[in-house]
Amino acid sequence: MIKHFTSLASFSPSSIQSLIDRAQYFFLNQNQPDKFHHHLHHKMIANVFYEPSTRTRFSFEIAAKRLGAGLVNFSPENTSVKKGETVYDTLKCLESLGVDAIVMRHSDDYIFETLQDKFQTPLINAGAGKFEHPSQGLLDLLTLHQEFGKLQGLKIAVCGDIKHSRVAGSLMIAAEKFGMQLYLCGPDALLPDTNQSFIKKANFDDVLPEVDAVMMLRIQLERHENLELNPQTYHQQFGMNEKRIQRMKREAIILHPGPFNRGIEISDEIVEHKQSRIFKQMGNGVHARMAILEWSQNRGQP
Ligand code: CP
Repeated sequence: MIKHFTSLASFSPSSIQSLIDRAQYFFLNQNQPDKFHHHLHHKMIANVFYEPSTRTRFSFEIAAKRLGAGLVNFSPENTSVKKGETVYDTLKCLESLGVDAIVMRHSDDYIFETLQDKFQTPLINAGAGKFEHPSQGLLDLLTLHQEFGKLQGLKIAVCGDIKHSRVAGSLMIAAEKFGMQLYLCGPDALLPDTNQSFIKKANFDDVLPEVDAVMMLRIQLERHENLELNPQTYHQQFGMNEKRIQRMKREAIILHPGPFNRGIEISDEIVEHKQSRIFKQMGNGVHARMAILEWSQNRGQP
């Protein structure tokens, strides 16, 4: 039985679909919070963020509270990390204190691989280095499913710093599981090598008329040592703007996991364009994370 939510790779398509369906239930019933505000009553969730976050951290917090759980927030600045406490010891401390699930973000790609066999308490990956961001993957799938009523066969262009993107990491795993076609676009130096038929490198402008969705990604300046980036040149070559949206199908949508650099990978007016689903996608973070937290306390179902 899967204990931790650390990678979409561990889940079958039907298990992921069950989580999407559950998240959609929370989405549809968001105005009737009485229906589920006792589901995690008396449970305690720990939010452990070693890297900054706005969307993921607060949506996990809101998700926990919507389900009736209590929540403690950890950040390294004001804890015993300052005295040399390791990640393992911090998590063991939280487990000893009796938390029911630990949501964690960390810069190390392999942090969950190293730790997961050592914990009975469910660990939930809220972003691990450049490896995976599976709760973001789930909310992205939920958003696509809401828009198109299916995932199978969808064509998605992903544009930007894909090599350093854990969001793209989770989307690539999902693409294989659900039969989606991904087109990787951006500067050559920021694209990963791929030899899988469902993931192809492509010229951004060429694929725009073909795709159902475009996932714009931020250049992750914090993960580069020597990247020289001219924002204007980048925007001209790879930015989403009015000119490029004209090349897309009218029913195609724009996604972005956030945070966004307005004027670099996406122009200001596109963020709230009628084809953008960026804020809907963000809001889905709460519904998807409610499904994940609930799953973590009823493991094995789905
Ligand atoms: N998409 C995402 O992970 O955003 P935050 O870094 O704000 O959590």
